Amino acid sequence: QADLKNTLLEINRLAANFFYYQLKQPSGKVGYDYFKEKRRLTDDTIRHFGLGYSSKVPDDLYRYMRSKGYSDDILKETGLFFIDERGARDKFWNRVMFPILDVNNRVIGFGGRVMGDGEPKYLNSPETKIFDKSRNLYGLNFARTSRAKYMLICEGYVDVIAMHQAGFTNAVASLGTAFTSQHAMLLKRYTDQVVLTYDSDGAGVKAALRAIPILKEVGMSIKVLNMKPYKDPDEFIKNLGKEEFQKRIDNAVGSFMFEISVIRSQYNMQDPESKTGFYNAIAKKLLEFPEKLERDNYTEAVAREYMIPETDLKNLVNSMGGLI
Ligand code: UTP
Ligand code: MN
Ligand code: MN
Ligand code: MN
Ligand code: MN
Repeated sequence: QADLKNTLLEINRLAANFFYYQLKQPSGKVGYDYFKEKRRLTDDTIRHFGLGYSSKVPDDLYRYMRSKGYSDDILKETGLFFIDERGARDKFWNRVMFPILDVNNRVIGFGGRVMGDGEPKYLNSPETKIFDKSRNLYGLNFARTSRAKYMLICEGYVDVIAMHQAGFTNAVASLGTAFTSQHAMLLKRYTDQVVLTYDSDGAGVKAALRAIPILKEVGMSIKVLNMKPYKDPDEFIKNLGKEEFQKRIDNAVGSFMFEISVIRSQYNMQDPESKTGFYNAIAKKLLEFPEKLERDNYTEAVAREYMIPETDLKNLVNSMGGLI
């Protein structure tokens, strides 16, 4: 079993080198140009993250691995190939490649992106004996040695890379899969503060709302960065630059105030009935604080932020069961 794992790691490492080499070939120029021109990544960044390109040849990676002496049985276990009676094909075809490293810098899998608008946008290695998606975070191999007191958590490969390139080397991503408590425990080894930098779209907000209780569970202090008007860290930094991004980090709000702002967006303040619904919803949310002092402090903060008379909000909270 340990032998099998080591062989799978060896093959993934060889594949990463293969993709990196292809990026530098004339046939890989399409991938190289994509990274340089479309994504504004530097040669240093490409090397640092070991980015690559999977060719249009349907089985060149497969034949390369066979030439190195690996059997079909072992190659099947890597998830990098489709192998059956009819033959063998590479899983990744004409995509730019992102090797996924674990905290010990071992290559455990890949993401591959189409360079245009094709579907699916990203293909990822399946889970294998060496790749457990819920226990690995993209970028953590670098972020773990960053000197920042907190980690930045985002959604995507390019977000992590763009943040690192801009100097935010404390960025990690959970890569499409939901953030898990294993992820939270893994992060907790390195920090007890995080700033969520998920996409500003509905999916990103949902992902943040789901990650918050999981991070709280391990005692993490959580802030949420306001990405507007941009969609994700990559686009924000491309448009407004790293100084503005740092300002957004400095101004990130605590997870509670973020949750309240999401609730706020679901109500219409012009409509009295809806407005009452909003007040009831935040009062209910405030009751999640079991201790009176903390609850009062947050009640004051919410009242100030949303210009609700403080005593009114306190009375509402108390009437809903907070009279302890
Ligand atoms: P997004 O759709 O937000 O993509 O998915 P992105 O990271 O901004 O991609 P770019 O900027 O267009 O290149 C966030 C993450 O979800 C996973 C990937 O890890 C992606 O980085 N994902 C997304 C997939 O695994 N498959 C997909 O088809 C799409
Ligand atoms: Mn190929
Ligand atoms: Mn998204
Ligand atoms: Mn993006
Ligand atoms: Mn995105």
